[in-house]
Amino acid sequence: MSWNEKNILSEPPGEWGGPWTEKKLEAFSKYVWSYLTIMKKFPFWKTIYFDGFAGSGTREKQVNADLMQQLKITEEEERTYKGAAERVLGLQELGFDFYYFIDKKDSSLNKLKSKLDEKFKDKTIVYRSGDANHQITELAKALQTKDYAALVFLDPFGMQIDWNAIAELKDTRSDVWILVPTGVIVNRLLDRAGKLEFSDKLQSFFGLPIEEIKAHFYEEKKVQTLFGEEEIITKVSQPIEKIARLYAERMKTIWKHVTDEPLVLKNRNGSPIFHFVFASNNQNAKKIAKQIIQNI
Ligand SMILES: C[S@@+](CC[C@H](N)C(=O)[O-])C[C@H]1O[C@@H](n2cnc3c(N)ncnc32)[C@H](O)[C@@H]1O
Repeated sequence: MSWNEKNILSEPPGEWGGPWTEKKLEAFSKYVWSYLTIMKKFPFWKTIYFDGFAGSGTREKQVNADLMQQLKITEEEERTYKGAAERVLGLQELGFDFYYFIDKKDSSLNKLKSKLDEKFKDKTIVYRSGDANHQITELAKALQTKDYAALVFLDPFGMQIDWNAIAELKDTRSDVWILVPTGVIVNRLLDRAGKLEFSDKLQSFFGLPIEEIKAHFYEEKKVQTLFGEEEIITKVSQPIEKIARLYAERMKTIWKHVTDEPLVLKNRNGSPIFHFVFASNNQNAKKIAKQIIQNI
């Protein structure tokens, strides 16, 4: 079975658009407001907003009442839902010089375009269909000119971000928020027996060789059995927290300041499904992100 065929691993079914989405967008919107307020004082930087997984601006999956009932989302909440794009563009009196919205699906981008173009005529909005990883590397090239500062929002629900792509952002004036699917996907790929069927995906996600990843999440023990000594492999305790920590450690190889306590997003049963991590080369930016996370 190929990675793509295992659809269940690229999006968490039944969790899309739950209250955790609201929490994520609230934290992010607060940060955008602070960022733009500060950047107003530095008019020589041209500011870029880059959303690598823009979506269509609506909760596409909630098409039937049954599902809405299951997700405990009322019709009122559904009507008032605003995706990240609309929230960022809608900030009063504050704005970026350029907005880039990326999505691999033309249909989603077209929907988003028809929603935003009419409403935000005065903004410079660029829509690009294609793989976010490729567009991140294009952004990294543009940031080499040193005239630009970018706020990068990467919120895929799966493990679509390639380490090699975000590594290109090293030494650029970039602030990033990344949604890391710690509990909902990565932890499931780290199976109990350590077979690691999707080792390629894990390697491209963490940017580490599989043996190193294995060493983080598994322990080898020698045990006495009826048949003599045997070596068994066990998965570490609290793997979800360890996934978040490892990802943050990896991010520290790209950016100087990374939130050590990311925003933890939980499902209705209280299990962590995502960690929303912030990174920047600016220490104050991290302080602001930290305060926002603590107060959400
Ligand atoms: C979770 S939605 C984005 C939600 C949106 N940010 C919001 O706040 O409403 C994820 C989107 O990522 C897109 N996507 C998935 N893989 C992608 C990739 N490799 N490159 C670009 N877009 C991708 C999907 O088509 C989908 O529209």
